[in-house]
Amino acid sequence: MATRTQNRSSKRSSTNDRSRSSSDRNDRSNGNKRSAFSWGGEAGPLIAAGLAGAALGLAANYGRKFVTQAVSGISGDWDQVLASEHDMTLAVFDKMLATDPSQTWKRSMLLMQLTHMLGKHAHEEEMVVYPALREADQMVEADELNGEHGYMKTFLFELSQMDADASDWLETVRNFRDLVAEHVRMEEDQVFPAFKRSLDEEQNAKITALVNKEGFWSA
Ligand SMILES: [Fe+2]
Ligand SMILES: [Fe+2]
Repeated sequence: MATRTQNRSSKRSSTNDRSRSSSDRNDRSNGNKRSAFSWGGEAGPLIAAGLAGAALGLAANYGRKFVTQAVSGISGDWDQVLASEHDMTLAVFDKMLATDPSQTWKRSMLLMQLTHMLGKHAHEEEMVVYPALREADQMVEADELNGEHGYMKTFLFELSQMDADASDWLETVRNFRDLVAEHVRMEEDQVFPAFKRSLDEEQNAKITALVNKEGFWSA
């Protein structure tokens, strides 16, 4: 686990590599200016894809989604919605850390809840906020955050393969929580406030609507 943390730290500190890859991505981006997040109303492809998914989702389980999103959905701007989900996710981690090895059923239920919450939250960010950040030339931040979501899925995979009474279960959850807490701090303290300030009211409202839509369909 230390190796993973070190790797991520060294990745963050390699500013030159980051600048170069950002430049490469910018070049690619400049070659293709069509964008779902162009603020001139070019949201057609994204909305069309959303509507197609919406039709399938409607057929699947409309009632359950409505209830789930009504319970977990938080009103407010997109950054407040996401921050509330961060708080709820960290609270699940704390419940997991308060268990003992005899509580295997409770650990399994909490892991299932955590997997669902992180999946929904990652979907909202990866389908809306991170693409919008890239459109605003913040590829480095978006890619770093997106990469950390990958390590969260790795933790979920590790825990899914582990017996709930394993001796290293708590330590794995603790390391997992540390990663999520660090990720959340970067989003809430640095990336999201700056991005929100850079957008006007209409742009922020558009991101809020899209986050809520993706949250609904992945609830
Ligand atoms: Fe995130
Ligand atoms: Fe987040």
